[in-house]
Amino acid sequence: MSLVRVSNGVTRPAAATFAVDGMEVSAPAGEPLATALAAAGLLGLRDSPRGGTPRGAFCHMGLCQECVVTVDGRIVQACLTPVRAGMQVGLGGTLR
Ligand code: FES
Repeated sequence: MSLVRVSNGVTRPAAATFAVDGMEVSAPAGEPLATALAAAGLLGLRDSPRGGTPRGAFCHMGLCQECVVTVDGRIVQACLTPVRAGMQVGLGGTLR
C-alpha cells in the first residue's frame, strides 16, 4: 500500500512536529491524527484487549474506536483529534 498525500492543487497549513512514542513526526497542523500517523507508516495504533492483536483506524469518523491512542496522557480517538505541535502521542495501549 502506498501512503502518500495528494499534492496537486492542495494548500495545507504549515507542518507541526509532534512525538509518537518518542519518535518525531511532522504533519500539517489540523490534519486528523489518524491520517498523519498512517502517512508516517504507523498503522497499528493499539492492541486488542482480547488477543493482543494490533488494531488500526477503520471508520475514520469516530464510530469504531479502533484508533484509540493517548495524547498527552489522555485517551482519544485519533481520527477525531487534530494534529498540533508538541503533542505527545502514545500507541499500543489497550482499551478496556
Ligand atoms: S477510526 Fe473509527 S473511531 Fe477512529
